[in-house]
Amino acid sequence: GRVLVLAGGLSPEREVSLHSGRRVFDALRRLDVDVEFGDLGPDLMETLIADPPSVVLPVLHGNPGEDGTVREVLELVGVPYVGASAEACRLAFDKPLAKALLVQAGLGTPASVTLPREAFHDLGAAPLISLVLKRLGLPLFVKPRAGGSAFGVSRVNDADQLPAALMACFAYHDTALIERAVVGVEVAVAVVDLGDGPVATPAVEIVPRRGIYDYAAHYTAGATEFFCPARLSDPAAAAVAEAALTAHRALGLRDLSRTDLIVDKDDRVFVLETAVAPGLTETSTFLMGLAAKGYAFERVWLQLARLAEA
Ligand code: DAL
Repeated sequence: GRVLVLAGGLSPEREVSLHSGRRVFDALRRLDVDVEFGDLGPDLMETLIADPPSVVLPVLHGNPGEDGTVREVLELVGVPYVGASAEACRLAFDKPLAKALLVQAGLGTPASVTLPREAFHDLGAAPLISLVLKRLGLPLFVKPRAGGSAFGVSRVNDADQLPAALMACFAYHDTALIERAVVGVEVAVAVVDLGDGPVATPAVEIVPRRGIYDYAAHYTAGATEFFCPARLSDPAAAAVAEAALTAHRALGLRDLSRTDLIVDKDDRVFVLETAVAPGLTETSTFLMGLAAKGYAFERVWLQLARLAEA
């Protein structure tokens, strides 16, 4: 039946999503699949009811696609879709909640503090900042509680950079997740389930040429160097693959995910986060992982679509 690729949305990652979605659409068209491209809008439910596709591929990054909202609509209307359930998305998209589930599953994650914006009004900035520094030390990463593509994310090397980093973060979310920066090799591991259970693909190592893996480093060709397979010891490579599978299961995910991790100099593995709707652009690690495993992009999406609609 007809496949609907749903992309866009109103999150800061709208453009990335349109790009990712367009690539899935083009890939399926190359296979002569009956496929349609939908830019997410307020008419979603009406359209789905009037002319239901046989399966939806939600290629939506950020709100309201990745947080579960759109998938809830799909569940309500009864249209099958590829990827994690609305409920699993809600947990996975919330970084502190996801972190708690990962820790419960025995995975390492960087030490962290969650700080709502109101705490600054109630307690004042100076005591909070000294508390954070006392608890976590430096350097730190400041991130919005939810969101992707590194919007609102800063690295803090000196204490006096922390207020500006928090301001940048609060532009995207009312709560900050502040994490100790782990020094090590940053990798992404794609997980895909083509019907026989989740499989981890080879880790992709991420080395931004300048500074941190920010938005520009994510999407500008040549701004980041990628190594696939990652330059890890064999045990570390096995450990990140295992951690990505554990994260996928612990968060109750389905079909596909991408987990970002750091391996420190002692080969200890720290999970940063797991994306339920990983980017699918030319510079996206998810695709590099699939390619390294010998999985063709077109075939993966066709297979996921067919399994979901069955
Ligand atoms: N949020 C971006 C699209 C990613 O995780 O790849």
